[in-house]
Amino acid sequence: MRFYQSIGSTNDVALDWLREGGSAGSVVIADEQTKGRGRLGRSWFAPPGSALMLSVLLKPPVDDVGRVTMAGAVAIAELLEHLGAADVGIKWPNDVRLNGRKVCGVLPEAAWDGPHLLGVILGMGLNVRIDFAGSGLEDSAISIEPALGHFINRLDALKFLLSRVDEWAARLGSHSLYAAWKRRLVTVGQPVTVNAVDGLVQGRAEAVDEHGALLVRTGEGIVKRIVAGDIALGETRGRDGH
Ligand code: BTN
Repeated sequence: MRFYQSIGSTNDVALDWLREGGSAGSVVIADEQTKGRGRLGRSWFAPPGSALMLSVLLKPPVDDVGRVTMAGAVAIAELLEHLGAADVGIKWPNDVRLNGRKVCGVLPEAAWDGPHLLGVILGMGLNVRIDFAGSGLEDSAISIEPALGHFINRLDALKFLLSRVDEWAARLGSHSLYAAWKRRLVTVGQPVTVNAVDGLVQGRAEAVDEHGALLVRTGEGIVKRIVAGDIALGETRGRDGH
């Protein structure tokens, strides 16, 4: 485990470590990131002392790379439930929500040496006590401590989270991981707008498949299979996360 008081991005450190031969299960954690990265080129910011930000090195079989996202989101959801949260959901593909607002972002990144998979970095940023008041994100983002109304010991939370990541990393290809992810998805059954790689798709989220893809039925009745994209629940695109 490598801990930094302040670092650019734990995902970047973990990617370098992976390329230098770091082993599966290694963890990079920081109290502050100066270049924290979110999905789709966004930045990810949390003041020191306010979050749990870490990256875990994993070496999954190449067929299970897409499952790393599921493992991260499910492990976070289990941590929240363990801490006493009642209303936990996963917004496809990997935002974890508490009381309907984003509490955690998951950023998996794979590293390749030509056609050979070196591994996958599972980056997770969990809002523990970030104060979103006046940030413009108060309607879409939330922190665990104010939501649950009790102190969260970040070290205890980290230990529990890593034990759940370990468990799921060993069972990435299992039906039980898919079932644990699917059961918590708030997206299925909802009208959605997806900013997918090949354009905007609007329709109703009908299902997810075992690979984690979202099946959206469009207004024309066509079912589109979306493997990656940014999603807004509802007919119009809204702001996402922080
Ligand atoms: C998202 O956009 O929802 C994903 C956010 C992921 C943030 C975490 S914080 C730890 C790790 N290091 C990074 O630079 N990003 C991820």
